[in-house]
Amino acid sequence: MNPLAQELNEQIAKQNPYVLEMLSDLGKNLFFPKGILTQSAEAKDKAHKFNATIGIATEKGGPMYLQCIHEKLSAFDPKDIYPYAPPAGKPELRSLWREKMLRENPSMAGKHFSNPVVTNALTHGLSIVGDMFVGTGDHIVLPDMLWGNYNLTFGTCNGGIIKKHPTFTVAGGYDVEAFKAVLKNSAAEKGKAVVLLNFPNNPSGYTPTVAEGDALVAAILEVAQSGSNIVAVTDDAYFGLFYEDCMKESLFGKLANLHPRILAVKLDGATKEEFVWGFRTGFITFADGNQGESAQVLAALEKKTMGIIRAKISNCPHPSQTFVIEALRSTQFLAQKEEKFQVMKGRALKTKQVLDSGKYDSAWSYYPFNSGYFMCLKLKSVDAEQLRVHLLDKYGVGTISIGKTDLRIAFSCIAENDIQELFDIIFQAAKDLA
Ligand SMILES: Cc1ncc(COP(=O)(O)O)c(C=O)c1O
Repeated sequence: MNPLAQELNEQIAKQNPYVLEMLSDLGKNLFFPKGILTQSAEAKDKAHKFNATIGIATEKGGPMYLQCIHEKLSAFDPKDIYPYAPPAGKPELRSLWREKMLRENPSMAGKHFSNPVVTNALTHGLSIVGDMFVGTGDHIVLPDMLWGNYNLTFGTCNGGIIKKHPTFTVAGGYDVEAFKAVLKNSAAEKGKAVVLLNFPNNPSGYTPTVAEGDALVAAILEVAQSGSNIVAVTDDAYFGLFYEDCMKESLFGKLANLHPRILAVKLDGATKEEFVWGFRTGFITFADGNQGESAQVLAALEKKTMGIIRAKISNCPHPSQTFVIEALRSTQFLAQKEEKFQVMKGRALKTKQVLDSGKYDSAWSYYPFNSGYFMCLKLKSVDAEQLRVHLLDKYGVGTISIGKTDLRIAFSCIAENDIQELFDIIFQAAKDLA
């Protein structure tokens, strides 16, 4: 093992040995090299005469660039666009995001947590979690309604085993008991489990109530108290898009500093929240279970994260970090977000109103939804994939089929005025096939 990795592991073990146990073999081996980046960073501070360290081209005291590119980006200083961004992300963006997280998640107040590290959006954050914490055969606990890409990230890439629980009870609440049962078994078998909490959920569009959220946290705590290590990851991709009675915060705040055997990891980002999907800007933030001092654990996890970023992608795109900084600093930011929130909420509520008309009850019921971008129909007699193909071929309507019975509808991209027609068409297509 590299001595720098050894050093980070000792740093972790001194303050919280359980966190060291939670790391995969790769996670234990990770470190941030004192290579070109460290030497360049030192030179940036001290090389007053010539700086011949960095792997970019410069002229006239700034980065070299092509005018044909810059004429479209002339509102920005070249230094904020063209050079590599630091491996953990632009410091200003990290602190603005930290402030935003605290503002929007009152339960994070007074908790110890790391500075957010910039990722190439949430998919990359998930892959960092996989690399750092999921080894071959490790268990990942998820609801059966899940974003399919988790299988590729944790299963195919990291060799983890996904343990699913039913998402909903028959009565239509979040199935906390099923979650607890699967978590207990999965954790007991390995002494460790990774829990993935994705609210608002893709594909169901559900966020638990405050009581359900508290019950999820209590279940995780109980399993940790019984002697298993839990990596509790919140995938907050659709954070903030809460339209009805449900939690309005990430569970990260309640999981942070809860128990030494619980490591909370928050994944979030601008992609869905600020409607900048292609910018690829996200964050990963850690909070271990120490109620006291955990600065060394957090610093070591940050360094290991920087190590895997350096190894896999070197660093995240610089222009989008600058754009997001501009947005977060803008005096218009909150008002404009609120405006878009109302548009999305209008679509969600209209969807519910249309579905509750009773008109379609012979063809489907629907899963509970109150947030996010999506909702799912539960088809009564036609096959979801057959319906999807028929909708596309005959009506030019695109949906996503999941399993035999579920059809995911992204109301996020259907204007409120078109929602009635959309479901009328789906209903007609289902009748064609029945
Ligand atoms: C639950 C969930 N997590 C993460 C992602 C990926 O987000 P990003 O575009 O930020 O990588 C998605 C995207 O569809 C998602 O639905």
